[in-house]
Amino acid sequence: MLLKFNTRIYQFFIDKMDLFEAMESRVNVKVYDKRDVPEELIAQILHAGTLAASAGDIQPWEFVVVKDKKTKIDLSVACLRQRHVEEAPLVIVVCANLEKVALKFGERGKTLYAIQDTGASIQNMLLAAHALGLGASWVHAFEEEAVKRILKLPDKIKPVGVLAIGFPLPYEKYYKTDIIPFENISWSEEYGKELPWFFKETWKDRFGIKKSLYENLKEMKIPSIEVKSTEANKVEDKTKPQDVKDKKPSVFERIFNWIRGLSRKTPTEKS
Ligand SMILES: Cc1cc2nc3c(=O)[nH]c(=O)nc-3n(C[C@H](O)[C@H](O)[C@H](O)COP(=O)(O)O)c2cc1C
Repeated sequence: MLLKFNTRIYQFFIDKMDLFEAMESRVNVKVYDKRDVPEELIAQILHAGTLAASAGDIQPWEFVVVKDKKTKIDLSVACLRQRHVEEAPLVIVVCANLEKVALKFGERGKTLYAIQDTGASIQNMLLAAHALGLGASWVHAFEEEAVKRILKLPDKIKPVGVLAIGFPLPYEKYYKTDIIPFENISWSEEYGKELPWFFKETWKDRFGIKKSLYENLKEMKIPSIEVKSTEANKVEDKTKPQDVKDKKPSVFERIFNWIRGLSRKTPTEKS
């Protein structure tokens, strides 16, 4: 009863994100609040999963929703002992029905399309979870046979992704690794030929996009997300002041963030 009431309050505060905001601010969240994920939100995430593109419109995805503690522990062990699978209040295992895909596309359907389709479905679900104020982690490092055994999956059902989902801890910092700018990895007409100059210089200004992902996130005012440049993507983030990286939130900030977390307002609250 109380949970239902809380959920209604949450729903009231939900202010759905713009798609680009959601894509830019989504991060791999691996530490969760203990709060249960309300069923209404689970339904919306599953619904998002069914909206993805699929080869031949086969829609081969199937989902196993796991909340049972023992099953989550077993799954966590199958996921090479990744603790966040056990700790997440909600786990959704996204599977591909290989039989359905094979009927139309044979071996290529089973080995390629089924994985691509469910991958698209998973990305939708991650974005939906994020837009609903949840945090999620796509876990793929797992022993497939163990996952199949734990969930009693028939042979034709292949587990493709284990999604650990929960409310992010409001006072925790979640790091967004900076992206490789498309200008560095896109070519014009043939591989190796640079894109015309206007793609490099003016497209961000034209669409009102800030110079860096970090600046964008600052604008969105999501208190728990910071950008972390990695060596691998070799993106120089000159805009990020050094002191922000290591700054611990004050007690006031923690309380403020906690209240924000309760109301689950999304970045679109920009006034
Ligand atoms: C196919 C695939 C497998 C992944 N497997 C794991 C995993 O086993 N454990 C994990 O914590 N994250 C896993 N991730 C999440 C990535 O580590 C994460 O998306 C990446 O570091 C980029 O960070 P971001 O999601 O915050 O942008 C996986 C992601 C993908 C797409």
